[in-house]
Amino acid sequence: MGYKIVVVGATGNVGREMLNILAERQFPVDEIAVLASRKSLGTEVSFGDKTLKTQDLATFDFAGWDIALFAVGSEATKEFAPKAAAANCVVIDNSSLYRYDPEIPLIVPEVNPDAITMYSNKNIIANPNCSTAQMVVALKPIHDRAKIKRVVVSTYQSVSGSGKDAIDELWDQTKGMYVPGQEKAPRVYPKQIAFNVIPHIDVFLDSGDTKEEWKMIVETKKIIDPSIKVTATCVRVPVFVGHSESLNIETEEFLDEDEARDILRESPGILVVDKREDGGYVTPVECVGDFATFISRIRQDVTVENGLNMWCVSDNLRKGAALNAVQIAELLGRRVLKKG
Ligand SMILES: NC(=O)c1ccc[n+]([C@@H]2O[C@H](COP(=O)([O-])OP(=O)(O)OC[C@H]3O[C@@H](n4cnc5c(N)ncnc54)[C@H](OP(=O)(O)O)[C@@H]3O)[C@@H](O)[C@H]2O)c1
Repeated sequence: MGYKIVVVGATGNVGREMLNILAERQFPVDEIAVLASRKSLGTEVSFGDKTLKTQDLATFDFAGWDIALFAVGSEATKEFAPKAAAANCVVIDNSSLYRYDPEIPLIVPEVNPDAITMYSNKNIIANPNCSTAQMVVALKPIHDRAKIKRVVVSTYQSVSGSGKDAIDELWDQTKGMYVPGQEKAPRVYPKQIAFNVIPHIDVFLDSGDTKEEWKMIVETKKIIDPSIKVTATCVRVPVFVGHSESLNIETEEFLDEDEARDILRESPGILVVDKREDGGYVTPVECVGDFATFISRIRQDVTVENGLNMWCVSDNLRKGAALNAVQIAELLGRRVLKKG
């Protein structure tokens, strides 16, 4: 016997990827419903070799369904996730709405799987921000061995992290550079994204940090350890899929770069590609469609007492969203619901 699964936001980037991953990982699905807004009613989406028609989230009855994977943004989540949870359908949410609620677990299965026991507080489990998810996968094994004191992270985030309109914007602006009369002014982003980089993701806070930077700081503390200090600069780059991060890590204990490489190689969810030669590292286009968080350029930072540098790349639609959500569903199935 398998599960009755609902994918909410099935016409979006993350929703479509959730359907791909449920099929790829042969998640035990007995029945599946795909939901989006009313304007997408009847739109066809693929699930393995099947084609499914989307239903309207606003009129869907969650009673009798086991798990709802939400990928619709905070506003629609606020209205509909509590309805699903109240109907005893466990919500796994990709928006930021519930991540900072102390009663709601924020889970990356390779890092803090035991937090799953908290799911029953509200029948809701939160998925972290895309840039946090891959970073904590890389940090956890280092923290377990040498206790991380501080992390300085700079991100290079792809446009798919801002939804399907942002993908169109990069595509249209790029074409517009070459075809006279087809130039496209920025709509999704505050400045041109094609052939440019933008050091601004989400809104500005009083501190001068952006909300995206704040999310990385706060979520790392909730998922790994409140004592870890993080400072972040989040940058949007003209890449379609795949987020990259430069990580500078300071630890309590000395950790040699070779030992760090060995530890990371043995850790769940990580693939180390680290040859000190041309092309001996991973770039975002190479991580698309993969499950792993790739780590390259592992080296000592000799400017501080116990420092390491590394380069971390992952498919933001997968580990940063859809894959992590499906992994949480797998964890929930294994540890709690025990049906599949
Ligand atoms: N992209 C990433 O890397 C990433 C990573 C982590 C978390 N997330 C989060 O995941 C969520 C989805 O992101 P995305 O990139 O997939 O966005 P997207 O490509 O723009 O897709 C949005 C989806 O939500 C649906 N939707 C929006 N408002 C709705 C409403 N009121 N009622 C019903 N359906 C509604 C859309 O349906 P229609 O097609 O009918 O409009 C579409 O299926 C967001 O909360 C985002 O912050 C994204």
